[in-house]
Order: sequence, then C-alpha cells, then structure tokens
Amino acid sequence: MNSADLEAIAHKMVANGRGILAADESSGTADKRLSSVNVAKTEENRRAYREMLFTTPGLGAHISGAILYDETIRQNAADGRTFVQVLSEQDILPGIKVDTGAKALAGSPNEKITEGLDGLRGRLNEYVKLGAKFTKWRAVITIGDGIPTANCISVNAHALARYAALAQEAGLVPIVEPEVLMDGAHTIETCRDVTEATLQVVFNALIDQGILLEGMILKPNMVISALDCPQQAGVEQVAEWTVNTLKRRVPSAVPGIAFLSGGQSEEAATAHLDAMNKLGTAPWPLSYSYGRALQHSALHTWAGKAENAGGGQKALSHRAAMNSAAALGKWSAKLEKAA
Ligand code: 13P
Repeated sequence: MNSADLEAIAHKMVANGRGILAADESSGTADKRLSSVNVAKTEENRRAYREMLFTTPGLGAHISGAILYDETIRQNAADGRTFVQVLSEQDILPGIKVDTGAKALAGSPNEKITEGLDGLRGRLNEYVKLGAKFTKWRAVITIGDGIPTANCISVNAHALARYAALAQEAGLVPIVEPEVLMDGAHTIETCRDVTEATLQVVFNALIDQGILLEGMILKPNMVISALDCPQQAGVEQVAEWTVNTLKRRVPSAVPGIAFLSGGQSEEAATAHLDAMNKLGTAPWPLSYSYGRALQHSALHTWAGKAENAGGGQKALSHRAAMNSAAALGKWSAKLEKAA
C-alpha cells in the first residue's frame, strides 16, 4: 500500500467543490429505475443509460469520480471505448461498488448485514487491473421498533473496516458508507442519536483494524427527519445538526465527507449541502456522492430514447453544477432558477 497515493486520490475526490456520481446500482436496482420510465430491463438498456450519463459534455468540471457496478466497469460506449476510458478522459476517477448487497441479519430479520468479504482480495485485484481507483461498501442501519440493535451496528462496522483494510491493501481508496435510513416516521433527534452511535462504532472499528484515515472517504447520511415524520426539520437545523454530529464522531484526519442523498429530493439534497458549507465550521470538505439526487431528472428526461440523450445530459450537468456550488457554499434557490 502506498499511503501517499491513497491520500492523493482521496483528496482529489472531494477537492474544489467536485463530487461523486453514484451510478453503481446493482442490475436489479438499475432495472427498477428503468422500469419507472417504461424502459425494458435489459443489459443493453442499462449500458445505454450509463453511456448517456458518462458521456455528458464537461461532466468532469463538477464530478471527480463515478462509482460503477461490476457489470458497468466491464462495459463500453458505442464507439468502443471502455467506460473506464470515457471517464478518465473527462478527468473522472472510476470507482467500483464491491459489496454484494445487504441481506437479512440472522437473529434480527428486520435488520441488514452487508455481505461481500469472501474472496474480496481477489476481486479487488481484478478491479485494479480494470482501472478502478476507489471502492464503495454500503452498510444499512434501519430505525424502527427496538432497532437498530447494538449487534447490527457492530457487525456492520466490523465488515466496513475489514473491507476498508482490504481496499487500502490493494491501493484503492475505500468509501466507507454507513447509511442510517430515512425510511419511517422517526424524528431528527432519533436520527441524530442513531447516526452518532453508528459513527462511533464504525470509527472504533476502522481504528482497531489499522485503516489509514487519511486515505479514505466517509459517505454518511445527513441528520434529518424520516420521510414520514410529521414534524419535518428545516434546512438550517439539518445543516447544523449534521455538522455537529459529524464533528463529535469523525476524526479530522479524514480527508473528506461525501454525503449520500438517501431519498431526499434533488433540490433538498442540494440545499442541505449548501447550508452546511455556508456554516463554514467543518474541518473536512463536505461534498456529495449522490445517486438519485443526481440522476432523477436525467433518467426521466432520457426515458430510454436516443433523441433525448442530450436533454438527459443537460439535466445531469445542471444537478452536478448545482451540487458543486453547494459543496462550496455558493448555491441559492435563485441560482437554481436562473440556470
Ligand atoms: P443515493 O444518493 O440515491 O442515496 O445513492 C447513493 C449511494 O451510492 C447509496 O449507496
């Protein structure tokens, strides 16, 4: 492992307001997204959709990295270039999701444990040969009646740390993603408490297992009201509570934080990120690694029609530009409308 290389890549992933395009939906999830716009669930349509995203003109101005899925990292654009080449030519680092999904946790069927450690060292070495520079592993923490259990947090943190150690050994920067879900009706207070407890156990595990904190990126949820909570916290509260929670639990050696969007609307995800950066108090760059909040309009504009590809790309370009403005604390609702 070359520490300087890991640190340089991690820094580049969050520098200058650039953020990450999460396009690593598994084939099952990608098919659900395609179905939502009445596009047939085929490998070719998944490829064509990703080609539309990755060939967006000027995407590298705002996007530093794109997370791919195992199928996607092996695919090509219509002109024969691999997606890894297409991205690299835009100065976008190719990344790869390496977990194999969240499965029911034995003994607690309403909770999830993320799998994918078996054989991971070999898979990582293959991804290095395919051109990957960073990796992602997502753990899922569900809030509900009597959950999360301490066991769920503990086993997921252990797996995240084992994954991160193997990724760094292979020379890949790990994105460590412990996602406290916003599904349900819980309050922002509950989200804060669970997020704080989760980050504590995750960083204990990362430190116990010798992870180079300077060579990783944290991808957390925001501290936010659940989707069905009747009392929705405002933008300022989400921003302040998120930054304060992270400050209490995330070492300043971590080079950057790239939030997930987790079911927020496109504009809410941007407004929250902007408000956090306007506070100006965080010791790390606060950027984004959005899936749905970058792709929603692009997917719906494209809707599987080749003649709409330019429109889809414009939609993606716009969201990337808005989120990069937010990552610098320079976004406004006015800017959104002017564009
Ligand atoms: P969302 O931004 O849609 O939550 O996706 C980000 C991601 O990569 C989840 O693992």
